[in-house]
Amino acid sequence: MVRIALTKGRLEKDAVALFEKSGYDTSELSKKGRKLLFGIKNADLEIVLAKAADVATYVEHGACDVGILGKDTIMECGKSFYEVLDLNFGKCRFAVAGPKGKDFYGGHSQKTIATKYPNVAKRHFNEKGLDVEIVKIDGSVELAPALGLADAIVDIVETGETLKENGLAVFEEIAQLSARVIVNKASIKLKKNEIDEFLGRLNNA
Ligand code: PRP
Repeated sequence: MVRIALTKGRLEKDAVALFEKSGYDTSELSKKGRKLLFGIKNADLEIVLAKAADVATYVEHGACDVGILGKDTIMECGKSFYEVLDLNFGKCRFAVAGPKGKDFYGGHSQKTIATKYPNVAKRHFNEKGLDVEIVKIDGSVELAPALGLADAIVDIVETGETLKENGLAVFEEIAQLSARVIVNKASIKLKKNEIDEFLGRLNNA
């Protein structure tokens, strides 16, 4: 049996549609209610639904063999597994953004950055040689500049609507993001045939 951890929420619908297209019977997942663990009727697969950061944890520890999660979480979590497939949905980007028209890179004062992704932000500004203060926020990060907490944010941008409606604009793009498949480092050897078949079917679909 191969156990797959799937990120709840934004990526879930596209991932279930992809499973269906790959020939897997996802009927249990479609009528799920509050359940978090599902069998796939026509294959030896089990699906669990979890938050993105927990998908990475379950796969790193081998509680799940395979995970489906955003590249944003992969870049932030610093956990150990193989990233094997780009699913080409859930496309968005990591960006530095702030009040429209502001010269963020000008001046010499230390800037403050609000973000849900402190590791990504730290790495980015380190690489640029910029000393910034990073403040961790858990959501609606776009509020931080308006409330005077931060000069800019590091966040994911999909349509750009949230930035626009809050008077913010992209200063700089950090990375392109999308949904990825990750595999546990032992499972990739121990369950090679089953995992290869699963990945092959997703790839073809
Ligand atoms: C994400 C992200 C932005 C928004 C970007 O937040 O943090 O706020 O989506 O999307 P857009 O460019 O299409 O407007 P999410 O909706 O996941 O909620 P959160 O801020 O509470 O984490």
